[in-house]
Amino acid sequence: ENEKGIDISTLRAKTGHVVLDPAFVNTASTSSSICFIDGEQGILRYRGIPIEQLGEKSTFVEVAYLLIYGHLPSRTELARFSTLLTRHSLIHEDMKHFYEGYPSTAHPMAILSSMVCSLSSFYPEAMDADNREMVDITIARLLSKVRTIAAFSYKKSIGQPFVYPQNSLSYCANFLNMMFSVPAEPYEIDEDIVKVLNLLLILHADHEQNCSTSTVRLVGSAKANLFASIAAGICALWGPLHGGANQEVVEMLDEIRKDGGDVSKFVKLAKDKSSGFKLMGFGHRVYKNYDPRAKLIKVAADKVLSKLGIKDPLLDIARKLEEAALSDPYFVERRLYPNVDFYSGIIYRALGFPTNMFTVMFALGRLPGWIAHWKEQNENASTKIGRPRQIYTGATETNYISLEERS
Ligand code: ACO
Repeated sequence: ENEKGIDISTLRAKTGHVVLDPAFVNTASTSSSICFIDGEQGILRYRGIPIEQLGEKSTFVEVAYLLIYGHLPSRTELARFSTLLTRHSLIHEDMKHFYEGYPSTAHPMAILSSMVCSLSSFYPEAMDADNREMVDITIARLLSKVRTIAAFSYKKSIGQPFVYPQNSLSYCANFLNMMFSVPAEPYEIDEDIVKVLNLLLILHADHEQNCSTSTVRLVGSAKANLFASIAAGICALWGPLHGGANQEVVEMLDEIRKDGGDVSKFVKLAKDKSSGFKLMGFGHRVYKNYDPRAKLIKVAADKVLSKLGIKDPLLDIARKLEEAALSDPYFVERRLYPNVDFYSGIIYRALGFPTNMFTVMFALGRLPGWIAHWKEQNENASTKIGRPRQIYTGATETNYISLEERS
């Protein structure tokens, strides 16, 4: 018994031991069969298939199917899934009016998160998280409309007319067309660029229990609908320590360029904890080796820039910064390597995406992963509402003091 006469052993039998693990460094919150990471060796697999193979041979739509439904689709399944995505690509015309309410300087992540949540007001049938047939349609709506919402938010920010989706185009080509076509000059689809966009989205498609996915799962564990759960994940992704890092990386590289390009000065600064400066795009909670996604993106960045004939000084700075950091004992001892965000922004820049769209691109890519986790959890009958515990460190019982008596 404790000092209050409570039988601790009975209490423990009921609630279990409470373990303090800030930031869930060592605590698994679930079991899952979607994504495998070996952080020591730098391995990432979706449903068992190495991302290197998926990046080379697959498409984003196929990978989305794989993650969400657990297997590579047959020809018929893929055709049906693609048709669904094509059919649901438009957003309700009334949603277009929302854009008029945002300032033209609005960050597209702010627009994306609120518009995705708003989808639940147009499709209230999505509220029934247990109606599997409806969930499949909600999944298709989400995957398809997010693309349209993202492209429209960009068009709004630059004051150009919206470009509607076209049924004849593939998922990625359609998105590029909505982003970059203007009435006077239709966008010319280049299959190499479409392939690179597929690769980038595939490499971002899932990463087990990262911050945004855990957010989606936690919100979804309350049986919140898929749109609402994903909107929460988008908000988590926006943070600069998570998906927001890809924007920060390019801003950091540009700062180094403007400062004269001396990378060693910034490596030194990143080692000084009191500076508050970190090397953005470096380090990872799980990878203690080179992030396998960053490896592929680095190669792709070289290819894209040479294909487009672009000489981006930021790529040279990124390479030098990586070299300087990886030969510095501070980074070596802590096993800090470039992560997925380090080189991705350089490709997006080359393709014409403005910096504030980079995290939106991450969200487009991560969407199938979020959906797969929400679905896996939702279909598991033994799922309980997520509810972490805490160790209370506040005052012990104290009496209320009336306002007059307070000093
Ligand atoms: N620059 C300088 N030092 C760093 C960096 C960095 N980018 N990342 C980690 N460190 C240091 C920490 O200060 C800490 O040092 P210490 O042991 O002397 O205290 C040590 O390396 C371990 O780092 P933690 O912060 O404890 O690692 P954690 O797992 O909590 O954080 C994170 C991981 C958030 C990714 C961190 O490395 C970081 O802030 N990186 C920069 C932001 C970034 O690139 N985020 C994208 C991550 S990938 C993704 O979400 C898609």
